[in-house]
Amino acid sequence: MPDRPYTMLSCSVSLDGYLGDRTPRLALSNDADFDRVDEVRASCDAIMVGAATVRTDNPRLLVRSQARRAERQARGLASSPMKITVTGRADLDACSNFFTTGEVEKLVYTPRSRVRDARARLGPVATIVDGGRHVQMRWLSQDLADRGVARLMVEGGGVVHTQFLAADLVDELQLVVAPFFVGDSSAPRFVTDGHFPWNANRRATLAEVRQIGDVVLLRYALSTRFQDE
Ligand SMILES: NC(=O)c1ccc[n+]([C@@H]2O[C@H](COP(=O)([O-])OP(=O)(O)OC[C@H]3O[C@@H](n4cnc5c(N)ncnc54)[C@H](OP(=O)(O)O)[C@@H]3O)[C@@H](O)[C@H]2O)c1
Repeated sequence: MPDRPYTMLSCSVSLDGYLGDRTPRLALSNDADFDRVDEVRASCDAIMVGAATVRTDNPRLLVRSQARRAERQARGLASSPMKITVTGRADLDACSNFFTTGEVEKLVYTPRSRVRDARARLGPVATIVDGGRHVQMRWLSQDLADRGVARLMVEGGGVVHTQFLAADLVDELQLVVAPFFVGDSSAPRFVTDGHFPWNANRRATLAEVRQIGDVVLLRYALSTRFQDE
C-alpha cells in the first residue's frame, strides 16, 4: 500500500486568485460544478479542510446526492467520506456542522501541546490525533494512509493548500476559475507564500481544461500517480 493517499486538491478561485472575499462561502462556482465536486467527494475516503475554513464557512462536507450516498453504502462504505481538520489553537466549536453532520468519522489533528484542550472541547464529537510538536502534512498523510485512507480530497483553505503543495503531496490539482474579481488583497488566496515544486523551470502538467457553464476547470497532474479519469 502507498505510504500516503492519492491526494486531490480541489478549490475554486476568482480571476484574481482569491478563495473568497472574507464573507462566508462566497459562491465562486456554479451548480453544475458543485455537482461535479460532489461526485469527486463521493469517490474519496476522506475530505480535509483547515480550521479557519471550519470556522468561517461552517461546511457540512457531506456527499449531497442521495444516489451517490446510496451507491457508497451499497459498497459497504459510510454515506460520506471521513472528515479531517487540523488546528493549532483548537478553537473549534463542537456544534459546528463539521462535527454535527454525517454519521462519519471526524479526525482533528493538533500539536501535542493542544491535545488535552482539544479533547476537552471536541472529545465527544471527534477523534483528536496527537500531531507531535508541529503537525506536518507529510506525517499527517502517512497517518491517514495507516488509517485506510486511499483517496484524500483537500478542500481548502489557502494555508492548508500551501503546505500540501509545497511538500509535494498533491497528485492532482482541480482548480476552478470563476468569472469575476474579488479585488481585496486582505482576502484569502489560493496559496500563501511558499516554495513550490513547480516554477518557471519545472512547469506543472496541464491534464484537462473543461468549461462548466461560466466557470472553467483546470486539472493538473502533479505527480506520476495522476489518474486520468
Ligand atoms: N473557494 C474555495 O474553494 C474555498 C475552499 C475552502 C475555503 N475557502 C475559504 O478559505 C478561507 C480560509 O482559508 P485560510 O487559508 O484562511 O485557512 P485554512 O487553510 O482553512 O485554515 C488555516 C488554519 O488551519 C490550521 N492549520 C493549518 N495548518 C496547520 C498545521 N500544520 N498545524 C496546526 N494547525 C494548522 C490553523 O488553525 P487554528 O487557527 O485553529 O490554529 C490555521 O489557522 C475561508 O475564507 C474560506 O471561505 C475557499
